[in-house]
Amino acid sequence: MAPTKEDRSGAPHETVLPEPAPDSSKTLSLQPSGGVKVGEDDIVVLHEVKKSFGEQEVLKGISIVAHRKETTVIIGGSGAGKTTLLRLIVALDRPTSGQILVEGEDISRLGERDLNRVRKKFGMVYQYAALLDSITVLENVAFPLVEHTKLSKKEIRERVMDKLEILGLDPKVVSSKFPSELSGGMRKRVGLARALMLEPPILVYDEPTSGLDPLTSRMVDDLIEEMRERFGVTSLVISHDIASCFRIAHQAVLLINGRVEACGTPDALLSSDSQIARDFVRQSGVDVASLTRVSR
Ligand SMILES: Nc1ncnc2c1ncn2[C@@H]1O[C@H](COP(=O)(O)OP(=O)(O)O)[C@@H](O)[C@H]1O
Ligand SMILES: [Mg+2]
Repeated sequence: MAPTKEDRSGAPHETVLPEPAPDSSKTLSLQPSGGVKVGEDDIVVLHEVKKSFGEQEVLKGISIVAHRKETTVIIGGSGAGKTTLLRLIVALDRPTSGQILVEGEDISRLGERDLNRVRKKFGMVYQYAALLDSITVLENVAFPLVEHTKLSKKEIRERVMDKLEILGLDPKVVSSKFPSELSGGMRKRVGLARALMLEPPILVYDEPTSGLDPLTSRMVDDLIEEMRERFGVTSLVISHDIASCFRIAHQAVLLINGRVEACGTPDALLSSDSQIARDFVRQSGVDVASLTRVSR
């Protein structure tokens, strides 16, 4: 049971809290955590999260609930605060105030050692797969295991080969290649293999379709859905791509100027009370009625 705020008053952020029980995910059901009610399937919960940089308040009280094994897409224009929000969720930064619960645990005041443990729950998938070009596919995908585990070289190699195969790549052919020798689609799969290496419950995609042509964007949307179905992961997608949002989101969260302007199914954005939300969809120029949803 995490200590309450009162217990910890005056304690510096660096204080290392005791490690919770290994299967803490099973104990989270409906227990109030610092006043926030969390259901069993509420895998990521943000409550009144604020973030300032100096004088500038970038996030102005964000409350979001992401459900387990669903896809939540956070959309918004440039400068809305999407990247800032993402960094708070994956425990790379702390909020100025408010609470962030990951599998029921409030991570907003954790010390560095605990934050490291929390970070392993998130597999990060970057826009251009973000593979290192100077090392082989094997070394790229092995990276999280080298970084976070004490497995032997042989074990790491075996796990990497397995993962490549699971993702539909021929490990014998692909593992010794350099990223530049692969097609865009294969690079995406290698990036996913790396993100899945520590078997995280949550995959986080930062602008996965940004800068891609419509056909490749659709392929990436299919891939996001495939990962969710095959590995039972929860997907958090940061995007400004309305078409992608309508294809993959169970829940769309529209972030405008550091606030949640609207939240619900993508279709609900169209009929939202918020004129800003309706305009955001309309002004994207995307004919959302013509989009085919990725199967779910
Ligand atoms: N580390 C930082 N220091 C100061 N300002 C920042 C920092 N990170 C983001 N900002 C500011 O926060 C605002 C939102 O940025 P960001 O979260 O990157 O938006 P988005 O990803 O939606 O484009 C911008 O005005 C940006 O300048
Ligand atoms: Mg950004």
